[in-house]
Amino acid sequence: MEKVTLESIVEAVNDLPSLPHVVIKIMELTEDPNATAQNINEVLNQDQGMTAKVLRLANSAFYGFPRRISTVTDATIFLGFKTVRSIVMAASVSDLLSKEMEGYALAQGELWKHSQCVAIAARLVAKNCKCFTLDVAYTAALLHDIGKVVLNSNMKQAYHEVIALVESDHLPFTEAEERIFGFNHAAVGAKIAEKWNLPPDLVEAIAFHHNPDQAEINRQLTSIVHIADVICLSMGMGIGIDGMLYPLSPQAMQVINFSEKDVDNTISQLVDLFVDQQSF
Ligand SMILES: [Fe+2]
Ligand SMILES: [Fe+2]
Repeated sequence: MEKVTLESIVEAVNDLPSLPHVVIKIMELTEDPNATAQNINEVLNQDQGMTAKVLRLANSAFYGFPRRISTVTDATIFLGFKTVRSIVMAASVSDLLSKEMEGYALAQGELWKHSQCVAIAARLVAKNCKCFTLDVAYTAALLHDIGKVVLNSNMKQAYHEVIALVESDHLPFTEAEERIFGFNHAAVGAKIAEKWNLPPDLVEAIAFHHNPDQAEINRQLTSIVHIADVICLSMGMGIGIDGMLYPLSPQAMQVINFSEKDVDNTISQLVDLFVDQQSF
């Protein structure tokens, strides 16, 4: 198997769509202290498809808002700028993450469900430990496996080799990916996040979601994403070929002071939310 070159990965990352103009504009607006809900509404209304997706997500059980949200202005007023911003990001990557990932044995829609589960779990974990902004945790978690989108085609040809290496050398999956391709999906995901100009702590959380002990910029954020990922995998959400191969890092648990009992609580909250299939 030929090693994948850095150039070919960079090329594949460059071939990915940039964040839509509307999303970039919303990111700017939500940072602007003078912006109003009306401004957000005006920008989003330039893209009807995006608006529909945002409203669908805003009305999902995950945000626990008791009344129907029918306009972007309402969403901004009731959920807040930061939450709307994270929902806009989710809406903009939903198509990319919904594709079938044959290389990772994920059927169409499965990586999106997994990403949604991890994003919601990260919100719950962050809430529980009161240690991090919920919406940043949500966005980092939502994008954590985005590198799979790029590595999927390489993996399609080589997954027998990767799995053989995991079994023969007892390697963690990401290390086997790295040996065969020169990169693992987490590192590729971080490259995509960089390309999208996301903040460094978010890039780091994606890069080290399977090795949270290597985080330096923001160990809490990386730990939250890591724990949320393991929680969703333990619930059977988007296991694919690699899901059973990731252990929970005890250090990550320590970093955010999270206990086994907290894990159980998070799982039962998630189960309640996911009963409402409309959420997807
Ligand atoms: Fe991953
Ligand atoms: Fe994952």
